[in-house]
Amino acid sequence: MSSKEVQKAFTANTCLTLSNGQKIPQIQLGVWESYDEECYNAVKWALEAGYRGIDSAEWYENEAICGRAINEYLTATSTPRSSIFFTTKLRNNVSYSETRSAIKRSLKECNLGYIDLYLIHAPYGGPMIREEIYRAVVDAVKDGEVKGWGVSNYGIRHLQEILDKFPDYPPLVNQIELNPFNTQSHIVEFCRQHNIVLQAYTPLAKSGRFENEVLKEAAGRYEGKGSAEVMIKWGLQEGFVSLPKSVTKSRIVGNLKGSEGWGLEEEDMAKLGGLDEHLVTEWDPTDCP
Ligand SMILES: NC(=O)c1ccc[n+]([C@@H]2O[C@H](COP(=O)([O-])OP(=O)(O)OC[C@H]3O[C@@H](n4cnc5c(N)ncnc54)[C@H](OP(=O)(O)O)[C@@H]3O)[C@@H](O)[C@H]2O)c1
Repeated sequence: MSSKEVQKAFTANTCLTLSNGQKIPQIQLGVWESYDEECYNAVKWALEAGYRGIDSAEWYENEAICGRAINEYLTATSTPRSSIFFTTKLRNNVSYSETRSAIKRSLKECNLGYIDLYLIHAPYGGPMIREEIYRAVVDAVKDGEVKGWGVSNYGIRHLQEILDKFPDYPPLVNQIELNPFNTQSHIVEFCRQHNIVLQAYTPLAKSGRFENEVLKEAAGRYEGKGSAEVMIKWGLQEGFVSLPKSVTKSRIVGNLKGSEGWGLEEEDMAKLGGLDEHLVTEWDPTDCP
């Protein structure tokens, strides 16, 4: 089956399988820079629309409000906890013990019983700190606080380091900035070779390239689709987990529903892949020492 045909079957329940066997929803709501009631509503609307995953972080200071919205949804709809996938991330790369404490804090904040996926947010700190904090995450997995483990913003050198030191616990995911304007193909290729699932953050390039002609032309070839739908679909069709963020109900719903029932032609995938300009919207620590 072509990747376009596979995509036609995409729904909110579509999952990828991580190398530990865990299923991860392929589209999830991102909640960076959304706080308090705004964040609560975004998560609630997303779950009601059918999203099964929420991507938070200690840094975002919204683990508690995400957890509240998830728990209320679970109770109101008699949905089991196991149906929702919650990710959070380590803010500061300090030490083994501080990482263990941070994970316990996150667990308490979200109040979800366990964390589905715990990521080291960035590779800062140098090789020794990276090893220490990764070991802390692995031990949290062994203790049942965390089910899945991984990294974010790791470049090839950082990934290789972890693969060498932790052959029994290779990172399950690497969450990096990925959209047609920042394809990071060298990291993508390395992750594919090592069975590390890529999570595409900033899949919409923070809405800053919607007027691009190639993007608009591609969108024009699919009925009812716009630049946002095409950008998300490009990532899904590449096999990434997509994490579009919105606090606007119509966009939250549209980003999910607009991903269902269609796929991009290979020709459009290639044209979109050619838009790479290494657009960094926020930070790029993938090359830090
Ligand atoms: N690991 C990391 O270092 C890292 C870094 C950045 C992001 N992330 C994760 O990735 C998620 C997404 O990235 P992001 O928040 O940077 O950017 P993004 O998802 O590329 O773009 C979000 C922006 O696009 C707007 N938007 C969303 N859907 C739209 C639509 N259909 N039409 C028009 N505008 C739309 C949103 O506006 P409204 O909200 O006003 O609707 C918001 O301003 C984050 O929330 C976070 O979970 C991770």
